[in-house]
Amino acid sequence: MADMISMAIMLHVGSILLILLLLLLLVWHFSKEMEFKPFSIKYEQLSLYYRATLGALFFTGLVVMAVAKFDVLWTVYIMVLVVLHMIATTVKENIAYKLTHVKDALSQETFKAYAKKKYTIDIILIVVLSAVTYAVSL
Ligand code: HEM
Repeated sequence: MADMISMAIMLHVGSILLILLLLLLLVWHFSKEMEFKPFSIKYEQLSLYYRATLGALFFTGLVVMAVAKFDVLWTVYIMVLVVLHMIATTVKENIAYKLTHVKDALSQETFKAYAKKKYTIDIILIVVLSAVTYAVSL
């Protein structure tokens, strides 16, 4: 049982590290000056990996919860809220991307600023939540 829990936590922490890496890459990509067409090809690729990892983060969290027989700390409820927030803002961001006109520089810049803010907030939430989780479990 202890082995199963530590394995599930390892996968959970692995998805946290992977999503942090992808978020840093996304923020870096949004900071680059480039044409919208090559920008969007790379952006679509990175955001696809980000969404898949978000799913993995949720799934591994559920596995940890299940192997711990749902006997978990209050911090886990915050984790679920944070992930739901990340999913909701990803859907909103995707709608904003779809509405961005390929030839309209102003709407492209507005979208870039909006998405960069979303991903930066995600990074802050993950770092703060992880710090709180480790501080509480000390
Ligand atoms: C932004 C998303 C999340 C972050 C940053 C996060 C972070 C963490 C961290 C740092 C730990 C401690 C790992 C360790 O002990 O080494 C942890 C444990 C855990 N996480 Fe998450 N997590 C997230 C999402 C979720 C979700 C969506 C769920 C459930 C659906 C979940 C369920 C759990 C559970 C059950 C534990 C074990 C807690 C305990 O031992 O009481 N997490 N998480």
